[in-house]
Amino acid sequence: MSEWTKHDLLDLQGMSKEEIETVLETAKSFKEISTRDVKKVPALRGKTIVMLFFENSTRTRSSFELAAKRLSADTVNIAAGNSSLSKGESVLDTARNIEAMNVDAIVVRHPSSGVPYILSQHLKASIINAGDGCRSHPTQALLDMFTIQEKLGRIAGLKVAILGDIRHSRVARSNIWGLTTMGAEVTVCGPATLVPPEIEAMGARINYDIDEVIKESDVLMPLRIQMERQEQKFLPSLREYAKEFGIDAQKLKNAKKDVIIMHPGPTNRGLEVSAEVADGKYSVILDQVTNGVAVRMAVLYLLLGIKR
Ligand code: NCD
Repeated sequence: MSEWTKHDLLDLQGMSKEEIETVLETAKSFKEISTRDVKKVPALRGKTIVMLFFENSTRTRSSFELAAKRLSADTVNIAAGNSSLSKGESVLDTARNIEAMNVDAIVVRHPSSGVPYILSQHLKASIINAGDGCRSHPTQALLDMFTIQEKLGRIAGLKVAILGDIRHSRVARSNIWGLTTMGAEVTVCGPATLVPPEIEAMGARINYDIDEVIKESDVLMPLRIQMERQEQKFLPSLREYAKEFGIDAQKLKNAKKDVIIMHPGPTNRGLEVSAEVADGKYSVILDQVTNGVAVRMAVLYLLLGIKR
């Protein structure tokens, strides 16, 4: 394992293969803790971690909170709706005031790309990006890579297809950075209006032929259409999208026999993935959620738990 020197986790862009491997290895050793009757170790006792969420979240927020609690850290939750932001305070002022209470880490989610970077420039606390706009969602990609490695035994050399609304997806961007660093071959597929050409510069291949993509892939990762981020009409109709790109049992007939279906959630059943497939034998969607806690425990431990 390489030595961990990072103070913040903002992005996977620029993170080395060794650093990603360190997170995945550490997560492996933490996974077992959540299966115990007493799901707690003292690794972060005395540390304070604040969840600062300016966007809705079910999985990510509760996963970070459980991860922190299972490492014995104290946690505080702040949601945009019930904070002073609604009284006109800036994000940076809010974060500075939180830091003034001597917190060790701030886990931040914000609809604008770049907010975690600004906080990291001005604050001494560790900043962990829990999703910023369309840009980055590093812990989601780390838990996705952990799940791929757990289910298929490796990442290098695998063909991973990310499907659907690539344009608005921070999950797609973080996975492309992470998976290509780890040696996987990433293909993106979706309606042309939702697949920006600049995605190729990140190292992903574009293929609009969904049947071909399904046939050749080891991992299929359909994404939610980000309704809240569509600044114009990119799709003629959702019904048409479901018919063309939705993953259902019929389309999977030509898939590899050990293909895995992943989804970061929340899923829109019947749109990007059918209910039958989401609950079916290829689906690892709930494993991703389970692994999310172990991966976030690893991230919090590596950032806060090691004396430097
Ligand atoms: C994703 C997100 O918020 O970026 N969800 C998640 O973190 N589990 C994807 C999404 O909202 O579609």
